[in-house]
Amino acid sequence: MVEFSTAQDFWNAPILSLFTDILSETRQSKETDCPVLAAWSLHDLTGMVLKRAEYPTAEAFLPERLTLNSLQEAAGGCQGCPLYKNATQTVFGEGPKNATVMFVGEQPGDQEDLAGKPFVGPAGKILSDTLEQVGIERDDVYVTNAVKHFKWEPRGKRRIHQKPNSREVAACRPWLEAELRIVRPKLLVVLGSTAGQAIFGPSFRVTRERGKVLSSKFAPKVVATVHPSSLLRQPDEESRAQGPRSRCLDPAAGRGLSRGTRGRLDYAGCQ
Ligand code: URA
Ligand code: SF4
Repeated sequence: MVEFSTAQDFWNAPILSLFTDILSETRQSKETDCPVLAAWSLHDLTGMVLKRAEYPTAEAFLPERLTLNSLQEAAGGCQGCPLYKNATQTVFGEGPKNATVMFVGEQPGDQEDLAGKPFVGPAGKILSDTLEQVGIERDDVYVTNAVKHFKWEPRGKRRIHQKPNSREVAACRPWLEAELRIVRPKLLVVLGSTAGQAIFGPSFRVTRERGKVLSSKFAPKVVATVHPSSLLRQPDEESRAQGPRSRCLDPAAGRGLSRGTRGRLDYAGCQ
């Protein structure tokens, strides 16, 4: 299990206090479906993406009736971009329809691709541990990814994660938008730049926006933090157990340093 100091550094103070406020608010009143939102035209939401995308995009594969089950089933057959070709299966989001908090990662990894579930591998373990340490049940939150198929390249016998490009993120966005319309989280947590770009567009940088309380048409409050896999890149168990020194995950720490040094500070130089 990751030490508490890691969880605190990972979520950082503004996010932790948001969790506390929002969770206590919603323990008192659980909201249900809003018919007005359910009547939104999906075209309003995806039009911008479609103009820029080169692929058929996921839009052509959306079911007529939008429920989490029908979406998951339809996403299983999505060929909206080339990523379905080399992946084992679609990995759709998971969690309760009335979840207050939604987490968006980048894309499934090797283990998620095999299991068909999001965040079940090493990054998922960090996510679950850090949630537990701030008193949130993993089963109470909705967890999904910006891109629903695993993008990888072979290296020997291993499948190495490749970052999805902006066209693939745009092509897959209708699934994420549909999930957001159904779940309507009060707080959306974007994990890393790819997830942030799926919500806010390609100029989004997690290093700049981390910990700020933002908002979007998808959720009244949106916060960005680093992807949990950045903690995995710390070099050894001992340094991980000590937790990242705050400068390691602090965007200000990297300013003025060479790119290589900055990279080590962000991810691997935290011992
Ligand atoms: N990383 C992600 O962004 N998502 C997953 O589901 C697993 C690892
Ligand atoms: Fe469809 Fe998204 Fe998979 Fe591309 S990555 S095929 S858009 S589900």
